[in-house]
This record gives sequence, structure tokens and C-alpha cells, in this order.
Amino acid sequence: MADTARFGISMDHGLLERFDKLVQRRGYQNRSEAIRDLIREKLVQEEWEEGQEVVGVVTLLFDHHQRNLSDELTESQHQEPELVIATTHIHLDRDNCLEMIAVKGRPEEVRDLASALIGIKGVKHGELTATSTGSNLH
Ligand code: NI
Repeated sequence: MADTARFGISMDHGLLERFDKLVQRRGYQNRSEAIRDLIREKLVQEEWEEGQEVVGVVTLLFDHHQRNLSDELTESQHQEPELVIATTHIHLDRDNCLEMIAVKGRPEEVRDLASALIGIKGVKHGELTATSTGSNLH
């Protein structure tokens, strides 16, 4: 890191003790790495709040036997082709499928598509993981 700035942080001893335990539990090498991650987490959250272009991953666990479900999932994604950047389908076992759909766009569009997908009948569990394009995270 050629362009690294150093700064000091003052905080309550009790808070620092708890933070150090968190650093240990999460397996960070040092406080600095943990603090950088916390800052990036907040910046990603802000990208979502401010409506910047973001990336999300929708995971869907669904019943392989549910009639028309695969077609409905495919149809929903075809309706927003500019949002969906990649899809992976895994046949977990005889009955269950897992689909991971990477989406890039405005937060509202990503959330709407995720809600539509998760809401399809036969989806047993669905979740949207919110992340970033990474272009503004150093
Ligand atoms: Ni499958």
C-alpha cells in the first residue's frame, strides 16, 4: 500500500476490549484490517442507500418438482436481461435445486427483481446478498 495514511483513534477501554475480541474471533491479522473492513461495509451500505450502481446475488432454494417453477424463474430473468449478469444452477439432490443469480444495477431494480424471484411459489428459501461493483472501494 504505497498511498497509506496513518491515524490514531481514541476510544473507551471497554469498547476496545470488545473490538479486540471481535478481531480475534473473525481471524483478522490486526486492528487495521478489521477497521478497513468495517469502513468498506459502511461504504457498500451507503452505495445501496444512495442509489448508486450496485451488485447483488440472489440465492434461491427451490423444489425441483414444483411445476413450472424453473420456467417462471427463467422468465423473470429474461424480463430484466440488462440486470442479470450470471446465473448458476445446482441440482442439490433428487428434490432440491439451488440457483445463484448475480445482478448489477440500481438498488431499487436489484431489490425488485430479487423480491419477484424470491416470491415465486415453490421457492423454499431466498435471500439477496448486497455487495458492490467494487469500483469505489479501495
Ligand atoms: Ni436442478
